Amino acid sequence: MTQKQQSRAKTRSADAIALLTQDHKKVQKLFKEFEKISEEEGDESKQELVNQICAELTIHATIEEEIFYPAARQAIEEEDLLDEAEVEHATAKDLIVQLAEMAAGDELYDAKVTVLGEYIDHHVKEEQNEMFPKVKKSKLDLQALGEQMLERKQELQEEMGLAGEEADKEADEDESEEDETPQRRPARAAARAAKR
Ligand SMILES: [Fe+2]
Ligand SMILES: [Fe+2]
Repeated sequence: MTQKQQSRAKTRSADAIALLTQDHKKVQKLFKEFEKISEEEGDESKQELVNQICAELTIHATIEEEIFYPAARQAIEEEDLLDEAEVEHATAKDLIVQLAEMAAGDELYDAKVTVLGEYIDHHVKEEQNEMFPKVKKSKLDLQALGEQMLERKQELQEEMGLAGEEADKEADEDESEEDETPQRRPARAAARAAKR
């Protein structure tokens, strides 16, 4: 078994909601880190962190839109809830695209990151307090859905050169696009994905 297969097998047990909740926690932690980054740490590390946030958010939004939301739409009779979630995604993606085209230190850069973070907090609360409990009560097979989502997530991470620690190393060894530095790549990829 390769390392990658092992990690896939290990994470196989996560159900769809556990997987999404884990993502939420991770990205909220990254936003907290952003709040703490002091001026002295410099724009480079700030931008690297924001690139990571945007890539994580883009992957998360994609698996929700492609897999989780359509399944939830069928399983619970809550059109409004799902419609609102999709509109919120669109607004968040808008900020992500703007951030990908900016550099840390640009005017409004920090403000956009902060507003994105507040926005995500609100969206996460709605998912976790309203949508997920309803989905849990439905007949949806969360295990099967989780597996499908995990597979798609890993695919997207690989596409964006962000596939966990060991794959990060692999990505660094890959030939990178010549006009983009490695730390710039995830943000560009996130912006491209977000524009889809
Ligand atoms: Fe979510
Ligand atoms: Fe969402």
